[in-house]
Amino acid sequence: MDDQRQTASAQTLSAREAEAALALMRQLPTAFDLRGRARKRMPNFAFEYMDGGAGADLGIKRNWDALDAVELVPRYGKVVAPPPADTTLFGRPYAAPIGVAPIGGPGTAFPGAETHLAKAAQAARLPYTLGVLSGITVEQGAALAPDVLWFQLYRFARNDHKIGFDLVRRAQACGAHALVLTIDTPARTIRPREVRSGIVNPFKLTMRLRLGALMAPAWLMALRTSGIPRFVSLNPYMPANTSLEESAAFIRHEQGGAFTWEEIAKYRERWKGPLILKGVLHPADAERAVSLGVDGLFATNHGGRQIDALPASIDAVPALRAAVGNKATIIFDSGMRSGVDAARAIAVGADAAFAGKSFLWSLGALGARGPRHLMNIYIEDLRASLGQLGCKSVDELRGVSARHRNAWKREDFGA
Ligand SMILES: Cc1cc2nc3c(=O)[nH]c(=O)nc-3n(C[C@H](O)[C@H](O)[C@H](O)COP(=O)(O)O)c2cc1C
Repeated sequence: MDDQRQTASAQTLSAREAEAALALMRQLPTAFDLRGRARKRMPNFAFEYMDGGAGADLGIKRNWDALDAVELVPRYGKVVAPPPADTTLFGRPYAAPIGVAPIGGPGTAFPGAETHLAKAAQAARLPYTLGVLSGITVEQGAALAPDVLWFQLYRFARNDHKIGFDLVRRAQACGAHALVLTIDTPARTIRPREVRSGIVNPFKLTMRLRLGALMAPAWLMALRTSGIPRFVSLNPYMPANTSLEESAAFIRHEQGGAFTWEEIAKYRERWKGPLILKGVLHPADAERAVSLGVDGLFATNHGGRQIDALPASIDAVPALRAAVGNKATIIFDSGMRSGVDAARAIAVGADAAFAGKSFLWSLGALGARGPRHLMNIYIEDLRASLGQLGCKSVDELRGVSARHRNAWKREDFGA
């Protein structure tokens, strides 16, 4: 790391924290370094759960390759020091256009994950999307990350959305800043690496998983402190003292399918803040969402975890932007590994870039310290990219010349 980046790191941290942050930067300077360390320190089944994709992992590879293929052309002679990366999303200020995507069961990567993610995001002032399938409640999330908490919901449609609507009420009451409805999981698909690692569906804590955990002492220690991860936002709707297997069965019974447009309209009526649809890849869906009053779109292929035939989400961003103009905020996710990737996403039309797996890698590698370290990597790398490209602000990234040969064009989608 050069002097300018060291100074940049130190700006947001106390002297002692900055020193520790620099030591970590030297040891584990990239997201992939964290991935390598996580693989060694986590139980195999936990690593395979978080790292594996659908099919033959081709969607994951496509996301990475497509990002790598986006080229940006700098203009020199303007910017001297790395500029700030701060931005505004849905009217709220954040330190950078970078955030944590929702993750179900992140405690698998490191028990207590949600608390560490929430605290790190609050300290770094980056948006944290707490998934409904999490080990802390939405109220606990809001207490830990009052300035940056977003809440993600899957479809709980039984009894006229009794659970879904109640969760929205609770998210509103505790001050979540945005509601994210995930629409890209209409079917349950198979992730072969997860299956091969011994994870069974419906979930069961088998002897093989227990033995696997014994091989990972740091992970096991965290499990002793935090307890087995449970999806506690759902506790009020479940019978008391439900076992792990029973709560997995409860979720299978209550949750499923993808929100229909009619349902999205009902959630729009209930939720008063920014509403975001997660999983939009087709421009016609983007237009429909905007017509229903949706404020934001996650351009994502779920990190390649649902089916590996989907386009790389970066390749869908320009067509989505062309479809919605400035009527919706576009959040890119799927494949992000660096601040340069965030710069690429914004240069081709997104407003922000979020990451899922890499935050889990950071937890698996470093436990509680992981998320903040990865946030530092991403923010500093984005700032360096801005400086390198001749941009004085994130906004100026939108004017950078970008070559994006594999981008989907409107005509590729058919009528
Ligand atoms: C282990 C894991 C669990 C996930 N759980 C959820 C979830 O509960 N809800 C959701 O909307 N997306 C979920 N996602 C998808 C992420 O929000 C995000 O779209 C994806 O991870 C982005 O791609 P990346 O992992 O390459 O950064 C999950 C992803 C992973 C890796």
